[in-house]
Amino acid sequence: MKFDTPATTNPIDQGKVVGKPADRIDGLLKTTGTAPYAYERHDVAANPAYGWVIGAGIGKGRIRSMDLEAARQAPGVLAIVTAQSAGALGKGRMNTAKLLGGPEVDHYHQAVAVVVAETFEQARAAAQLVKVDYERAAGRFDLAKAKDDAAKPDDMFDGSADSSVGDFAGAFAAAPVQVDSTYTTPDQTHAMMEPHATIAAWNGDQLTVWTSNQMVDWSRGDLAATLKIPKEKVRLVSPFIGGGFGGKLFVRSDAVLAALGARATGRPVKVTLQRALMINNTTHRPATIQRVRLGANRDGTLTAIAHESWSGDLPEGKPDSAVHQTRMLYAGANRLTTTRLATLDLPEANAMRAPGEATGHMALEAAMDELAEKLGMDPVQLRIRNDTQVVPDHSPPKDDPQGRNAQAASGQSRAAGQPFSQRQLVRCLQLGAERFGWNRRNAKPGQVRDGRWLVGMGVAAAYRGAPTTKSAARVRLDRRGMVTVETDMTDIGTGSYTIIGQTAAEMLGVPLNSVFVRLGDSEFPVSSGSGGQWGAASSTAGVYAACVKLREAVARKLGLDPAAAVFADGQVRAGSRRVALRDAAAQGDLAGEDAMEFGDLSKKTQQSTFGAHFVEVGVDAFTAEVRVRRMLAVCAAGRILNPKTARSQVIGAMTMGVGSALMEELAVDRRLGLFVNHDLASYEVPVHADIPHQDVIFLDETDPMATPLKAKGVGELGICGVSAAIANAIHNATGVRVRDYPVTLDKLL
Ligand code: MOS
Repeated sequence: MKFDTPATTNPIDQGKVVGKPADRIDGLLKTTGTAPYAYERHDVAANPAYGWVIGAGIGKGRIRSMDLEAARQAPGVLAIVTAQSAGALGKGRMNTAKLLGGPEVDHYHQAVAVVVAETFEQARAAAQLVKVDYERAAGRFDLAKAKDDAAKPDDMFDGSADSSVGDFAGAFAAAPVQVDSTYTTPDQTHAMMEPHATIAAWNGDQLTVWTSNQMVDWSRGDLAATLKIPKEKVRLVSPFIGGGFGGKLFVRSDAVLAALGARATGRPVKVTLQRALMINNTTHRPATIQRVRLGANRDGTLTAIAHESWSGDLPEGKPDSAVHQTRMLYAGANRLTTTRLATLDLPEANAMRAPGEATGHMALEAAMDELAEKLGMDPVQLRIRNDTQVVPDHSPPKDDPQGRNAQAASGQSRAAGQPFSQRQLVRCLQLGAERFGWNRRNAKPGQVRDGRWLVGMGVAAAYRGAPTTKSAARVRLDRRGMVTVETDMTDIGTGSYTIIGQTAAEMLGVPLNSVFVRLGDSEFPVSSGSGGQWGAASSTAGVYAACVKLREAVARKLGLDPAAAVFADGQVRAGSRRVALRDAAAQGDLAGEDAMEFGDLSKKTQQSTFGAHFVEVGVDAFTAEVRVRRMLAVCAAGRILNPKTARSQVIGAMTMGVGSALMEELAVDRRLGLFVNHDLASYEVPVHADIPHQDVIFLDETDPMATPLKAKGVGELGICGVSAAIANAIHNATGVRVRDYPVTLDKLL
């Protein structure tokens, strides 16, 4: 089915199941510890062996020699696989560095061997006996230094690494009020609960991996490419995922080394990346340096907007696209954005929740606060003053899930002036201000005291694209009237199981508990997967398409006109006829399978999600400790398919925004080239005690240009702007403007 005309009234609009705050249908499995995560698939792999991955002990250089003898003799050891013994390996489309290094070492903790033994403990113990002789080379580990040699990333954004409208330099010079600020954001790690983990088993030349992965089809292809075997020879199964945040968009060394270990031993092999290895071994959100210049008239009208961003990655790597939202959020005739990529020899940079926008808002929305202060204008009013209903800059291309870069894109860059399909940023700001009690904010910093706490409020706007991509599913109706949905879509803790079940239930007129949802298996139709905030909208559209096919099959079977058939209350009705759904399948299951493809419609308008974040903080007047006291997000993101799971997404994202504002930072060892705090003890993220109060409001909207369900995504919108709102609140509380994230207390004293 092709989505190429705006959605009209359809069965989803009944809203009997879709749009209701249904509990997660996988919730019981998860909360009782019975959801089978990859490493726990005791049912699928009899008598498995265990692999322990050895990561390189240098940041850059080569391996002179490896002494494996002692390890080979150690108790229980079955095999040791290195680049030398593995034979020629390929590289997946989505991987920058090789997943099994040697003799060249590209980054610290790049895998250089896997030791496979009878037990986990034996593999770990034997790995300590492997002696690697390294020749260390000089590496580039300092973004601030590498910045001057940074280049425009070729082709990463279809020519939209940079954009320019009007005469920025002239307009900025002439602007009566100016802000020129540089912000820095640190490297960050996803810190998901479940580490990367895989069980691999060969049956002849057929490989099956049970793994933890957001993108089943990408990763199936990339695993095959890495192992140099046909894609059809790989089955990838990933039904439960303990968090991803972008860190599991790609095949990583656990899957490759489990497969190689299994091949070497003739046994199923289990590999999990130990936490202390994982952070340098896998991907991270890269640090950025961002300069924002804003020029405005005294009434607050922006006349000049520039945002320049620098980040670094390994050779052939990818930039952080921090300038995206700056092309979209505010009107202004003269504009400039640039993206520059430096070469660094740190571990691989890549996507992390709202890649680009998450960091970009930390600069832009703090600069807007600085401008409001200079103007003596309310920061909510400043944003409203500069609203636009058309794209003010060359629009960034839509995130392209098929492209190499999950955060970048391949869609055509569109001209300025294109309308947004929906844009209720002003409503988000107004409603948020009203609900939050913004009028109680004292515009003068450092004035409000609550005991030892200095209290302040901050606001930020939020922008994130609403990409969609082809997604397929199949649906089956059986004689009990039960419906089974199968798609390779993943649920990374987001609620995919539930909204997919709700979609099928609504389309077929059955209650949610009559729907079985089966996800995350490459034997199912290829879905959008989970990433870039495209998963909910795309995958439910695919289920919609498959259900349309099944409805047709049911109508045909019953001799009804499909266009006139109404599916409700477990029945199919047409004219005066009324048949129980299960009777349609009495002689055998009926099935429907289809993909939703998104046509040119998505190019006719700019589809985006908007929001506003309000935060109140307390800053200890003596120690400068910052505590977030209250948070509110107002989101405009099309039809909300399930307000409960959507709210969970947004409060999770807001929590991550608190981490990003106040604590998260990978500390770079600039001599040796590694992230020093590579565990959960020293990489700090918020805990419950850090988050006393959160509210989320969804505007009641549907976007017929987005999908047949008129839905978008919220999982990444929720983090955009949060950190800036916190930094702005800290400034309001204290009068101190910290432009170097995270805003730790040492920077406030
Ligand atoms: Mo997302 S960072 O594309 O999982």
